[in-house]
Amino acid sequence: MIENIEALFKQISCGVYVIGISDGERQNAFTAAWVMPVSFNPPLLAVSINPEHYSYQLLQAGGVCTVNVLGQDQSAIAEHFGRSVQDKMSGFQWQKGKAGAPILLASLAYFDCEVSHYTDAGDHKIVVCRVIAAAKLNTGQPLLYSQTGDMDGSSALYE
Ligand SMILES: Cc1cc2nc3c(=O)[nH]c(=O)nc-3n(C[C@H](O)[C@H](O)[C@H](O)COP(=O)(O)O)c2cc1C
Repeated sequence: MIENIEALFKQISCGVYVIGISDGERQNAFTAAWVMPVSFNPPLLAVSINPEHYSYQLLQAGGVCTVNVLGQDQSAIAEHFGRSVQDKMSGFQWQKGKAGAPILLASLAYFDCEVSHYTDAGDHKIVVCRVIAAAKLNTGQPLLYSQTGDMDGSSALYE
């Protein structure tokens, strides 16, 4: 056992993102912090996703997603999409990306992606995403995972 691993993991700088997913008309979005760029050419992003999430099933079926960057004043949005609730998408403005996944218009920037492949990572799956479009939407500083405290309840998940 490693003492205080949950606090130590938060020393690794991560932003906070809303991952938009669609499979045809079915859509969902969830908050993720474990996201990073992993290739220059082609541009690839890796997202670590818990395969027990509804969003994982949808991602496997649809094969497309967006990565939307949250700003410093958007921790309420992180909290909202960090829960499994009915009708999560309503009350926000969305635009369909090139591949069909929803872009969160309130975010600082978005990356429109197609799934390249998956790889195993302990109790998560890493989804490697090819970026097919991206743009800045709003001005601001990115929210950091370390600023979200235990919003994700992860302190209870480490052994
Ligand atoms: C700040 C924060 C960061 C999170 N990071 C991740 C993450 O990187 N990967 C993940 O699978 N879930 C992460 N979660 C948890 C999911 O957002 C949460 O379980 C959500 O309910 C999943 O959505 P769904 O049930 O609609 O699929 C995070 C939650 C919060 C609040």
